[in-house]
Amino acid sequence: MCGIVGYIGNDNAAPILLNGLKRLEYRGYDSAGMAVWQKDRTIKLIKRTGKVSNLAACISIDKEDAGVGISHTRWATHGGVTEANTHPHVSWDQQIHLVHNGVIENYQTLKNSLESKGVTFYSETDSEILANLIAYNLQQLDGEITTKTVYKAILTSLTNVEGTYGLAIMCASLPGTLFGARKGSPLILGVGKNEMMLASDASAIRARTNEVVYLDDNQIVTLTEDNFSITTIEEAEVVPEISTISWKDEDAELQGFEHFMLKEIYDQPAALENAFRGRLDMGEGISKFGGLNLSRQDIRRIDRITIVACGTAWHAGLVGEYLIEKYSRIPVEVEYASEFRYRNTPMDKNTLVIVISQSGETIDTLEAQREAQRKGYHVIGIVNNVGSTIARENDGGIYQHSGPEIGVASTKAFTSQLLILAMLSIYLGRTRDLSYTDGCQAIKAVMELPNLVKQTLQLADSIKGIAKKFAHYDDFLFLGRLEMFPIALEGALKLKEISYIHAEGYPAAEMKHGPIALISEKCPSIVIVPDDETLKKNLSSVQEVRARNGKVIIITDSNEIPSSLADELIIVPKAHDCVRPVLMTIPLQLLSYYIALELGRDVDKPRNLAKSVTVE
Ligand code: AGP
Ligand code: GLU
Repeated sequence: MCGIVGYIGNDNAAPILLNGLKRLEYRGYDSAGMAVWQKDRTIKLIKRTGKVSNLAACISIDKEDAGVGISHTRWATHGGVTEANTHPHVSWDQQIHLVHNGVIENYQTLKNSLESKGVTFYSETDSEILANLIAYNLQQLDGEITTKTVYKAILTSLTNVEGTYGLAIMCASLPGTLFGARKGSPLILGVGKNEMMLASDASAIRARTNEVVYLDDNQIVTLTEDNFSITTIEEAEVVPEISTISWKDEDAELQGFEHFMLKEIYDQPAALENAFRGRLDMGEGISKFGGLNLSRQDIRRIDRITIVACGTAWHAGLVGEYLIEKYSRIPVEVEYASEFRYRNTPMDKNTLVIVISQSGETIDTLEAQREAQRKGYHVIGIVNNVGSTIARENDGGIYQHSGPEIGVASTKAFTSQLLILAMLSIYLGRTRDLSYTDGCQAIKAVMELPNLVKQTLQLADSIKGIAKKFAHYDDFLFLGRLEMFPIALEGALKLKEISYIHAEGYPAAEMKHGPIALISEKCPSIVIVPDDETLKKNLSSVQEVRARNGKVIIITDSNEIPSSLADELIIVPKAHDCVRPVLMTIPLQLLSYYIALELGRDVDKPRNLAKSVTVE
């Protein structure tokens, strides 16, 4: 949650910070603020509730602005959405200015203690304690304020806090220095030419540099415009590893689309191609992955797989369960990461753990990965965000290469996860039971998928028409069997997230064990009907809905369903069953997008949500 941007360099800081904040707004949009040094050696503090545009509207790109500043876009955890609670927070003695991402769990105890020593607090946030604690510890160090004393004060303070933080810090007595620190919340350092940046993720700094250092937990960084040094919280020096960002700044722009969600829906043919490029071996009828760090013998020894993820990535995991079991016969469990980490799930010795995360920063998924690793399991990740914490910490992995996903509602990352899971199923299957012929057919289907997705996207206009007719219902049911059940869950989640309409996903046959009570002319059902052995059963579910006056939208790849059977029939191209879930997903994404649009919702920044959930 929340976006941090810090800048130190030759240019005016304010416009650079503002640009970075706009790029990070998908991480939180309750309020935004910045603190920038002025040429007269004062610090200007500006805060506004609401979106970054509110902050931008009151910033005159000031000629007085010097080249140092910190900024923040907030996703409130402690304290309401007010200007007082907006970051940057300033210590009571005006020395320390700081922005924080995360939660300080023992803030109340620390606050009580500082208040008893005469320190004043102005906000309800947990973050303000950090500013006051650092300032207080700085006062305890006698003598001149120097980089060294501020660093010491930060160090002492951080050893006293419990919880998570990504921090960017300035001191009013040190105009030429910035500090950063991280534990549990992402923070990266951008290394430019005579300028350095701090940010929650690479999209905020890509316009200035493609060289980054991914900070690890318990590290503190000290920056000047042309230098930086990193130490651990135990004061050990860290030799930094500079990585290069492969994507371009334009990849994180709208490129003529009205919303990022729509752009990312249309990015899917290319994103899917990126997911399989270099990973298919038609000659052997197998897919291959460079970074699993598992030999063929290791693969043969796996007798169980546990998939761990949150939200949309969890839905991808559920589809993965069907595909992996079907193609490789390895039993699969899928768990919510937030449950897995506390549940102490019994697992076999030869269990492979797979974590799935677009951002690679979701705290529940990260902690679940750490828990599995603590117990000695080999964890592989399916991750989009290169260099993210999950990707760096796991034992092996498959990068999605979908490019930056900005829309809060995940679209291209989900279908790319589905495809990677299909390819993983083929790989696991071919090292076990799957025949050469079956492998070849599946590989061919993977290669054909981008074109089929392009064809499916041509349904956009007719789906827009359907959306107009259905936008004003308050409840929806999404129904599907087998691997289409998680696709139904995903369809319901997409609709909920961006249109705020109540929607539930159910296994189609399970509907008659309860949810059927909801069916009436006021609650339409969206039924996913693949052209396979479940077709007739699914059509029975359709009849049951219609018998109770429920409206029905059918999404199918069959050409045999009479249009009279549904209020709306959406026909996608036929495909092999390993990639069919991808094609069934596209109409659901478009439907939720156009319904949200019809209702005038803020599609890319739906209320209460943040793209990257880095608090528990
Ligand atoms: C997707 O539309 C959601 N916004 C959300 O459920 C998301 O999938 C979840 O928070 C997991 O995120 P991750 O893939 O970055 O770990
Ligand atoms: N806990 C802090 C707050 O509520 C930071 C939240 C965030 O990460 O945006 O202000």
